Amino acid sequence: MARPHIEFIHAQDLEWQTDVLPEPFADVECKVLSMDSETGACSTILRYPKGWSQSEAQHLVAAHEFLVLDGSMEIDGQDYAFDSYGYLPAGQTHENWKTSEGMVALTFFSATPTAIPGPGNPTEQSIPYVNLHDMKWATADIDPDLDFLRIAHKILRDDETKGEKTMILNCGAQSHPDGWKEAALSHPCVEEMYLLSGDIAGERGVMHAGSYFWRPAGIWHGPFGSRNGNLCVIRFMDGNHVNDWGKEKLPFSLTPDHKPDLPDTLSQFKAKPFSAPTPY
Ligand SMILES: [Fe+2]
Repeated sequence: MARPHIEFIHAQDLEWQTDVLPEPFADVECKVLSMDSETGACSTILRYPKGWSQSEAQHLVAAHEFLVLDGSMEIDGQDYAFDSYGYLPAGQTHENWKTSEGMVALTFFSATPTAIPGPGNPTEQSIPYVNLHDMKWATADIDPDLDFLRIAHKILRDDETKGEKTMILNCGAQSHPDGWKEAALSHPCVEEMYLLSGDIAGERGVMHAGSYFWRPAGIWHGPFGSRNGNLCVIRFMDGNHVNDWGKEKLPFSLTPDHKPDLPDTLSQFKAKPFSAPTPY
């Protein structure tokens, strides 16, 4: 499988690496959340150092999708500060790309992000800039069987033709299925998640802020709930998002055992749950 099932890890457990990506990213510190061994498509956290810049016009052969977690960056005169989002498709010109204070960004590339000098021709629509705080929370089109999670969302990108969707999801605190039982569900597409804050309890353990999963199509998951609520980034890929529910109601617990599904390369995280910082 080009990108294995990873459910779940915590970014805090990963090392910062350099020379993972080609220029101009080679000296940018990188945490690789997942990577496709065939195409080089990857989900990463990039930490650009203070003063990093690329003044020459260039374009990437990969789509560059990012959410700023900390710091800021300017690209083509657009300033991206924390909680801002962009989707710059393959071929989109990146010019006068600079950060004085540095930037940490959750970053997704659709292939190895090889840079080619000079302007390019984007092959699809860009989403040049979204400030998440300028978007309203919505509850339309949410599966009513998930009402117990009190979900609100902000849809950042929805390409039904390609079967790609990116959204921010917010789930309520002290949420659990009615009667502490619910069916599992699956989707006919990849589901990917990065947890920005809060927690998610599920059948594979408890995810805390900084957790990440890459779940290929057809894998059963849930039921889920949350003690403190949560805010996360979700991407659906390789197909459109549909909830296929199982028939059997399964018990739910806010204190499940730690049983992640991980490839051998991440087996060191199988045994020990991530120790979340406590508020006291
Ligand atoms: Fe799901």
